[in-house]
Amino acid sequence: MQLSSKHLLGIRDLLPGDIQLILDTARQFKEVLQRPIKKVPSLRDITIVNLFYENSTRTRISFELAEKRLSADTINFAASGSSVSKGETLLDTVNNILSMKVDMVVMRHSATGAPHFLAKHIPAAIVNAGDGINEHPTQALLDALSITEKLGELKGKKIAIIGDIMHSRVALSNIYLLTKMGAEVTLAGPPTLIPKHIKDAFGVNVTYNVKEALEWCDVANVLRIQLERQNQVLFSSLREYNQAYGITRPLLDSLQKEVLIMHPGPINRGVELDSDVADSKQSIILDQVENGVAVRMAVLYLLSGRKESTS
Ligand code: CP
Repeated sequence: MQLSSKHLLGIRDLLPGDIQLILDTARQFKEVLQRPIKKVPSLRDITIVNLFYENSTRTRISFELAEKRLSADTINFAASGSSVSKGETLLDTVNNILSMKVDMVVMRHSATGAPHFLAKHIPAAIVNAGDGINEHPTQALLDALSITEKLGELKGKKIAIIGDIMHSRVALSNIYLLTKMGAEVTLAGPPTLIPKHIKDAFGVNVTYNVKEALEWCDVANVLRIQLERQNQVLFSSLREYNQAYGITRPLLDSLQKEVLIMHPGPINRGVELDSDVADSKQSIILDQVENGVAVRMAVLYLLSGRKESTS
């Protein structure tokens, strides 16, 4: 089985069958990761560069670990400390790295569309590890795997995505994935952080009342307030944001049911999510991080075109 695309630039480009294939392959790799020896030879002799032009903890480490578990050779590139500071272009940087016989590129960039631009100019397969406010496809895939582990298939499940939708590539990739796989999606948060036409453009529900969204959903995926991407005041204060839109213990206790809590990280504790929720039994935040490695192994393996067994 193969993906319909040479690259993973976004969930927007994937067919439901591609998403299913990645999730099924990730489940096989998750079994590998439970063994005493957590390594398979699937990508031996393949070299992958992790190009990070923007900060990351989870995604960068998770890709590197996925590559090592697959026996690939790995190079890590951070823009800070590189010749980017001397004015070298993205394309020159990547072409120089590829000339050293690198086979695949994993890339995070603050510019929306940077991996799409690169895909038009280089022969190597590219995995988008987050581009600006556009997409973060492997995050949506690991979120989907985490939901299915707890609740079974995505079709018919009710997922609330809560918080800063406007600046979130996690939101957009999740919306594409969940709607393609037959889940229902409600976006909740302040009106200033939810794009006006998103309801009609994506076939999702919108509410500005977080309690209403929580009463409706099976899963709440809570997003970080991305202060670094906001160049104007979009809500009064962090304290008031927490009171009106934050996920707090009293708010969850006021519901007649238990909702699964997710967050892509990093968390602004006490703003969008309180610690006694983030660290509670109903939170699957660390399961999401764990699943990231298996999902990224699946993506890299499938894009490599290798036919070796995943076990
Ligand atoms: N979820 C996520 O993308 O986290 P990082 O920014 O730490 O990679």
